[in-house]
Amino acid sequence: MKIRKAVFPVAGLGTRFLPATKAVPKEMLPVVDKPLIQYAVEEALDSGIEQIIFVTGKRKTAIEDHFDNDVELEDTLNKKGKKDCLLDVTRVVPDPGTLIYTRQNQPLGLGHAIWCARHVVGDEPFAVILADDLIKSNTPVLAQMIAKFEENMSSIIAVMEVAPADTDKYGILDSEDMGNRLSRVLGLIEKPTPDKAPSNLAIIGRYILTPEIFRLLDMKKKGAGGEIQITDAMAMMLKEQSIYGYRFEGHRFDCGDKAGFQMANIAYALERPDIKSRLKPFLEGL
Ligand code: G1P
Repeated sequence: MKIRKAVFPVAGLGTRFLPATKAVPKEMLPVVDKPLIQYAVEEALDSGIEQIIFVTGKRKTAIEDHFDNDVELEDTLNKKGKKDCLLDVTRVVPDPGTLIYTRQNQPLGLGHAIWCARHVVGDEPFAVILADDLIKSNTPVLAQMIAKFEENMSSIIAVMEVAPADTDKYGILDSEDMGNRLSRVLGLIEKPTPDKAPSNLAIIGRYILTPEIFRLLDMKKKGAGGEIQITDAMAMMLKEQSIYGYRFEGHRFDCGDKAGFQMANIAYALERPDIKSRLKPFLEGL
């Protein structure tokens, strides 16, 4: 069964980046010159995803505008002969019908945000991408995971080892290593303190989930932080079906965190010949 749809929860308030995110959605913050959400959308499309479902909220219309044509701007750029700029603004617009928007009407948690997309996803396995987790890799991480899904036909979550002191920032796995970058998940717990964490193997924001997850999310059970957590629904799903952890190939930047966001900007800027020549000596001089 092909993974055709990806859900993008983008309703979060972005409080960690205030005041920058007062009027601008956090997903629109740029890494170099491209909004975070565009990296995530490109990863999905490059992985063969055909339909992108944004779960949005108030003050997020900039995301819709970003992925739409802006005839006035395009005309102006055209008249001024700014061909590169014109290409930059038009190539982000996918074929009509590729993007679908639905709203999360209350901030009840990540599990609830994903549940809001249930009617659009329907009865098929689907992907979830959290744009905060920006992953620089040769093969898009979602494509790596889709290839694994096609072998196992079970839910798969992206995982990586984090500092043991940081377990309370992540969903954490109890798992059994199977080799070949895969682990069989034995248990899952959302944001445990280090003394309660079964390991330091953490969930990173890429999931492939079977549609049974919606029935479990339907129970609307509240977990860590009083929120409906996707990690808790997956923990329940483990009683019925296997879930695998996948150690992806790539470097992950935590762009939900100020330091991680700056690191992403530096790393991506250093890959750009037009910027590197001035940025590198500057960094070395600091
Ligand atoms: C969410 C998930 C968590 C996961 C993390 C990855 O947490 O709830 O399980 O480890 O994303 O970035 P959040 O960062 O939204 O608090």
